[in-house]
Amino acid sequence: MYKCESCDYSSSKWFGRCPGCGEWNTFSEEVVEEYRKEESPLLFKLPEIDIKEEERIKSGISEFDSVLGGGIVLGSLVLIGGDPGIGKSTLLLQASGELAKEHKVLYVSGEESASQIKIRADRLNTSSEGLYISSYNNITHILDQIEKIDVKVIVIDSIQAIYHPSLPSAPGTVSQIKVCTSFLSGIAKKRNIPIFIVGHVTKEGSIAGPKLLEHMVDTVLYFEGDKNHIFRILRAYKNRFGSTNEIGVFLMEEKGLSEVKNPSLAFLSERPKGASGSVVSCTIEGSRPILIEIQALATPTIYGMARRDTLGVNYNRILLLLAVLEKRMGYNLSTYDLFVNIAGGIGSSEPAIDLGICSAIVSSFKEKPIDEKIALVGEVGLSGEIRGISNVEKRIEEALKLGFSSCFLPKSNLDKIKEKQIELIGVSNIKETFSVLFP
Ligand code: TYD
Ligand code: MG
Repeated sequence: MYKCESCDYSSSKWFGRCPGCGEWNTFSEEVVEEYRKEESPLLFKLPEIDIKEEERIKSGISEFDSVLGGGIVLGSLVLIGGDPGIGKSTLLLQASGELAKEHKVLYVSGEESASQIKIRADRLNTSSEGLYISSYNNITHILDQIEKIDVKVIVIDSIQAIYHPSLPSAPGTVSQIKVCTSFLSGIAKKRNIPIFIVGHVTKEGSIAGPKLLEHMVDTVLYFEGDKNHIFRILRAYKNRFGSTNEIGVFLMEEKGLSEVKNPSLAFLSERPKGASGSVVSCTIEGSRPILIEIQALATPTIYGMARRDTLGVNYNRILLLLAVLEKRMGYNLSTYDLFVNIAGGIGSSEPAIDLGICSAIVSSFKEKPIDEKIALVGEVGLSGEIRGISNVEKRIEEALKLGFSSCFLPKSNLDKIKEKQIELIGVSNIKETFSVLFP
């Protein structure tokens, strides 16, 4: 059979372009085995099933443990995806180093040689006795090593680089990924060993190879961030053993990743004082409120067409908010070049930061700074109205924690809030907001 590597479409004929997903050059040959009848499985009556608490071990990196739902579940298969160079190998090597203080860890690298890993480990200052490095691509070797040393945790870096000798196809093809993953899943479940699998991400942002890889594992984590910035976010997309609302925040520095216990403080640390166009808003990442600095710069256009550029915020959302500001406030922004940026390389597509964005734009446009002790949250509608948002209480608490003295929020959210230590200013439209902000 021929199979498409991006969508799993199969056919007995080769295609240059996949009829399923429209991708070019994705077909590869695959040997299909006949279906074999297996023993019939055991049946259980629901009330009679014993519940076992999952056994967990701690990795020693608390942000990592919390994203996993409170530690690593024994026997679980965890996939970690992310752009090349974002820090997946670094994260797992650091976690392995910590884990190896108490358990034997096998780190299988199909991409880097053992000495390359040693160099990296030295830089990261991880040199535990219990950490075993192996660089081979044949996945079945893993069995010998599990026998030889009493392995408690396995890391596979990466699933695209290894192969199973029972298949003739090259590493990284759909069939290889499928077979290797189910082979690993068998080991994890049978021997109660947690296995971490690194998966590369394609241009479009999904894990290279079939989507089905995500179905085959218990937990899918994505490691995200802007490579040019130091912040990294570890996010759970699927977790059979915990919530997907947790995120972990890290800094990528000279000596590897370090945990960020207070992201708001980190993202606001370099905020300029008394500058126009700088505003603080609060976004929710997972279940965690994070204060962010929104920066806007409006400068008169020199050449006919005004330029708009954004970093960390949705470009089309900015165009929409600009149209609202022009129409409802009467500002002539079409003769201004406009740049909007969320400082620190964190992005947010939450409408709850609309009011912050609008205020930053107007602050720069009018050259009037906004008091640095003010935070603003609220969604802006097309008529300039400020619409209610979710999790207001959490956001306000976060602002209070970081020493903000007042917070602008949607009027409709105001009466549900009990917090009294911070001045709350309920606003119902942008005109009202700006008359208070820029008297
Ligand atoms: P890596 O973990 O190799 O990424 P991935 O496995 O996701 O492809 O990370 C490589 C990047 O991280 C590289 O560009 C350099 C940077 N880095 C640091 O900034 N500090 C460090 O201590 C290490 C090990 C890497
Ligand atoms: Mg890597």
